[in-house]
Amino acid sequence: MMIDGFGRTIDYLRLSITDRCDLRCLYCMPEHGVESFSHEKVMRFEELLQLCRIMSGLGVKKFKVSGGEPLVRRGTPEFIADLKQLPGVEQVTLTTNGQKLLPLLPQLEEAGLDGINLSLDSLDPQRYRQMSRRGELAPALAALEAACERDFCPVKLNTVLMDGLNGDEAPALAGLAKRLPVYVRFIELMPIGLGREFQPVPGEEVCRRLEAVFGPAEPDSGHWGNGPAVYYRFPGLLRPVGFIDAVSHRFCSSCNRIRLTAEGCLKLCLQYDIGCDLLTPLRQGASEEEIAQLIRDTVAMKPERHCFGEEVAEHREEHTMNAIGG
Ligand code: GTP
Ligand code: 5AD
Ligand code: SF4
Repeated sequence: MMIDGFGRTIDYLRLSITDRCDLRCLYCMPEHGVESFSHEKVMRFEELLQLCRIMSGLGVKKFKVSGGEPLVRRGTPEFIADLKQLPGVEQVTLTTNGQKLLPLLPQLEEAGLDGINLSLDSLDPQRYRQMSRRGELAPALAALEAACERDFCPVKLNTVLMDGLNGDEAPALAGLAKRLPVYVRFIELMPIGLGREFQPVPGEEVCRRLEAVFGPAEPDSGHWGNGPAVYYRFPGLLRPVGFIDAVSHRFCSSCNRIRLTAEGCLKLCLQYDIGCDLLTPLRQGASEEEIAQLIRDTVAMKPERHCFGEEVAEHREEHTMNAIGG
């Protein structure tokens, strides 16, 4: 088991398997001039699996495959199948924008995928195009419906609401759960990178907007994931609605996660650049025990909390979510 300097058990690893993405969501990536990591710098799947095996030996049981957009990388379903086979790996889930998901669903089911989180910020085709700059609503929605229909794992929808853009869509998005067994989740926009330029809608405000349409929210104590979402039931919806209030209700004291970037850097918190490079020692032939020790020593330095909205911070870094795994 891995315990950090503040007594938190670390059992969840977010893997960014690529920094590339087929979309350019307004709050995440600029329209032009995004430089990708060079090919040699990105971990090969064998290297990723080697690191995951070491991680599972250290007590990491849950893995989130993320990006960038994980499905732009060829071989992702096979990688997920291999990851699922590693001893000690209990759960592998995927976070995707859904553009390329539909045709891959059978393979992902076969691979044993345990959960799909689909990012979708608007149900209006024009607005979806505007907000993602390159995407189309239709394939994402078709994938959502098909994933719900196949029903081999829980399906969640991640939405970031911003006033002036899609802030009016909370009821429409949550309303998907009137007919689909989907956990719709509202994520507060975090002030990182381009995210600073838009107007977030606090979770409590989203909840008020939903109550005005669906009626009173009832807290739901079920444990629906490994993340920080808090769930409420609304009348008429098949599944509870989740709120990820990263800014207004900081949940760092129960943080269970670390991240691995596509270049093989271990990151301890989404807001800080402290961590360490695991790929270089791996490529230089370090033993599994040496790498395990490096991971343990690094985890011991995990910061206590993020400091969005505060001045300061040593080691603070500006990065976009695509570079650090959502
Ligand atoms: P599950 O509910 O188990 O699927 O996990 P999850 O919620 O961690 O998965 P997902 O990839 O869907 O992440 C949803 C959102 O949670 C992300 O987009 C972030 O906004 C937020 N989030 C994820 N990790 C962190 C973190 O380490 N710190 C903070 N503050 N927010 C995070
Ligand atoms: N704040 C909150 N969520 C963000 N995401 C990307 N950038 C931000 C941000 N600044 C979300 C995407 C996706 C998830 C993986 O991360 O909308 O749903
Ligand atoms: Fe959008 Fe996610 Fe791609 Fe960023 S990584 S541009 S949030 S789809």
